Amino acid sequence: MKTILTGVRPTGNLHLGHYFGALTNWVKLQDEYNSYFEIADVQALTDNFNNPEKVCNNVREVAIDLLSVGINPNKATIFVQSMIPEIAELTVFYSNMVTVPRLFRNPTVKAEVAQKKELFGNDGESITYGFLGYPVSQAADITAFGGELVPVGEDQLPLIEQTREIVRKFNSIYGETLKEPEHLLSEAPRIKGLDGNEKMGKSLGNAIYLNDSEEVINKKVMGAVTDPNKIKKDDPANPDVCMVYYYHKLMSKNDLDTICNECKKGERGCVACKKELVKNMLEFLKDVREKRNYYESHPEEVDKILIEGTNRAKKKAEETMKLVRQNMQLNYFDK
Ligand code: TRP
Repeated sequence: MKTILTGVRPTGNLHLGHYFGALTNWVKLQDEYNSYFEIADVQALTDNFNNPEKVCNNVREVAIDLLSVGINPNKATIFVQSMIPEIAELTVFYSNMVTVPRLFRNPTVKAEVAQKKELFGNDGESITYGFLGYPVSQAADITAFGGELVPVGEDQLPLIEQTREIVRKFNSIYGETLKEPEHLLSEAPRIKGLDGNEKMGKSLGNAIYLNDSEEVINKKVMGAVTDPNKIKKDDPANPDVCMVYYYHKLMSKNDLDTICNECKKGERGCVACKKELVKNMLEFLKDVREKRNYYESHPEEVDKILIEGTNRAKKKAEETMKLVRQNMQLNYFDK
């Protein structure tokens, strides 16, 4: 069985964008692969080092999100990055395998640097060593556990490429030690926000979270963007430009034709259509929401799962570390 490893930064609850774009795929993959799911709190801190509560609170929240969508701790290993010091150790060794200009050229980093410059209005003085080095740390995340395939979205491809370079460099110097991973792109598309934005995202404020209450879901759906040319309830409209119909397509499979035809003929008001979407969305998320309620009221169980997963992951990282130390000739007293 091949090993997969992927990670998620605990900076907020997971939303439907994650659900469709990644999580449903991860749930499938856990049956086919030896699977590691990392809660990347150290990586989250590279952008949130001055806000430790945020990261801390979201470690458990993200764990609950993962469990609620169906990641099964008996099949897969869910673990917390900061509790595995071997990752930090590897990061230090790998940092010699990559130049600073190469990190600045990494397209993912480059985009984030540009964003920071815009945000902080300076010329990059806010770029920390830790932030610039997060691709190195991500290479350690992957290789510590012998990750062979890394399920990620497009935006992460440059980080996997960076990992591959580090691995090749390491192996060429210290001898065949690490596995060179490959990305595994999920065929699930990125989903749009309720506001019509191409992406659903936390920072865009257009997301429906797995832990949103019924009231919140209702409010968000009621505010969704519909065909701007439809003014009155019985105006015919174009479902193809309507975000409510877009979400119906994702979650209301059975009545789609009816919804589409009624909308086109002006037989369906937007408010009723939105109410129906809320109902279908709640039905669609029923299982997830029930599991979420369960884990929310059993925090000790969540902690136990994280501790056990982390212990299991740590054993694997220790094995890797032993080999790394041996091949780097750092095993002075252990020959
Ligand atoms: N960088 C990833 C993200 O922002 C999260 C992540 C951390 C990750 N470590 C990883 C992804 C290892 C894949 C493999 O989404």
